[in-house]
Amino acid sequence: MRRSSQWYAGTDRNAYIHRAWMRRGLPADAFDGRPHIAIANTASDLTPCNMHLDEVAEHVKRGVWEAGGVPLNLPVVSLGETQVRPTAMLWRNMAAMATEEMLRANPIDGVVLLGGCDKTIPALLMAAASVDLPAVVVPGGPMLTGHFRGSPLGCGTDVWALSEEVRAGTLTEAEFLRSESSMIRSKGHCNTMGTASTMGLLAEVLGMTLPGLAGIPAADSRLLAGAHETGGLVVDLVKRGRRPSQVMTRGSFLNAIVALAALGGSTNAVIHLLAIAGRLGVDLDQDDFDRTGSGVPLLVDLQPAGRFLMDDLYRAGGLHAVLRQVHDLLDPEAITVTGRPLVDSLGDVRIHDAEVIRPRPRPLRDHAGIAVLYGNLAPDGAVIKPAAASPHLLKHRGPAVVFDSVEDLHARLDDPDLDVTPDSVLILRGCGPKGYPGMPEVSNLPLPPKLLAQGVRDMVRICDGRMSGTAYGTVVLHVAPEAAAGGPLAKVRTGDMIILDVPGRRLDVELPDEELAARQPAPAAVRAFARPSRGWQRLYVETVRQANTGADLDFLIGSSGDHVPRESH
Ligand code: FES
Repeated sequence: MRRSSQWYAGTDRNAYIHRAWMRRGLPADAFDGRPHIAIANTASDLTPCNMHLDEVAEHVKRGVWEAGGVPLNLPVVSLGETQVRPTAMLWRNMAAMATEEMLRANPIDGVVLLGGCDKTIPALLMAAASVDLPAVVVPGGPMLTGHFRGSPLGCGTDVWALSEEVRAGTLTEAEFLRSESSMIRSKGHCNTMGTASTMGLLAEVLGMTLPGLAGIPAADSRLLAGAHETGGLVVDLVKRGRRPSQVMTRGSFLNAIVALAALGGSTNAVIHLLAIAGRLGVDLDQDDFDRTGSGVPLLVDLQPAGRFLMDDLYRAGGLHAVLRQVHDLLDPEAITVTGRPLVDSLGDVRIHDAEVIRPRPRPLRDHAGIAVLYGNLAPDGAVIKPAAASPHLLKHRGPAVVFDSVEDLHARLDDPDLDVTPDSVLILRGCGPKGYPGMPEVSNLPLPPKLLAQGVRDMVRICDGRMSGTAYGTVVLHVAPEAAAGGPLAKVRTGDMIILDVPGRRLDVELPDEELAARQPAPAAVRAFARPSRGWQRLYVETVRQANTGADLDFLIGSSGDHVPRESH
């Protein structure tokens, strides 16, 4: 018996009500045990990267009908990374919780998850993991490459680069503004290897998409064909009873970590993968990223670490060509929604442009994965993406220049009298999950203008927040515990010597243990943390866990399954 039949089958009053209100043009046999498929759709005019997903949904529907299912559009909470304040990450868990509850509450047998912009695919996967209904993702795909003055523009990455040039006085404001309308050339999400691109690709590596679908540009007709095919696939998934918990295993997550490194993907993937794994009860921790990923070579030359964009990656052979190069590092047992191992879909796929995707013997870097650092500044860990950092700064000792909040940073950074040198270590605190709240992407704090004017383009920066996947630099982020949760970052003072040792995996402040233990958090750091008094923000701050475990709410860890024991009438 289908799950939806628990609503629709029978002759009693409740079944009558459930069916009657749904008829509205559905065929007469729609309630005779056909799979009812929700299309969890994050299309929204306020999530510009996902605006086109209604069109994608129409093609999913065709495939569902064709395979004998009944497709049902289910708009879910959507998060526009560039639009919502204070940060989309504050709402990821809310979107996941709301989607989870709506999937469970409704008479559906399976779900197609339509996402794109940064937080949408993670939230959808967290929700699907906790309900554990047959589910498959259609990633919305990246934008086509835009150009300015004859050169490609990378969404996000080039905004940072161009705005730094304006601050350094090497680009006029008028030229900067002229680039604005060139950056967003088509529908789709950011075209750099930012968080959206990373999570779309990793959804496939986790096994949760039709093989070959991730990375197809949003404007490419092959995305719509793949959406159609996915509609048929989800009906098959329901018939076979294949659930996310059978697909997203520890092996799948380790495959995702290998892919994350080879692709040069976003550091945000660390938090999202940990959160998804937490919903499934998969034993995954932050150290797995270092153990499994740090030795993996970087093969993809995409911004922000490199030169090209997502359109180029697809043209060069796409995700499968990258995975083919590291297939010996992948778990051969990890399956996809098709029921077949991920590695079986790689076949003899070739690289078509070895500038964009490097063959394994000629990597861009030998050891590209996330490094996890520990020390007296980060007892529960911090992460750095060495591939996006300056090699000469990976071992560094320098005096701290501390900012207590983003507002403090903005107020003082441009001060010509700021006591800062290229050796200084910029520290920004108050930006963790509780502190901001929501853990914004501010860790790649801008450089002081007086140093930019001297030609300095990178410095060591340390923060308890996140970094945009489109950003780059020698940035230590996700410091845990964060300052607002009593982490030692709250005790650092300007002038303390900071030691970063990425090869040794250390992050320390050069202070005797007794002195650090005796110090109180800086009063300004405490003042900067205002506890919200009501609503979602209060619930979030009171229950959010730290970055090293995925920053999920403590009561959302795990799964409740799809069962609803009580009737509505
Ligand atoms: Fe949506 Fe970058 S703003 S993916």
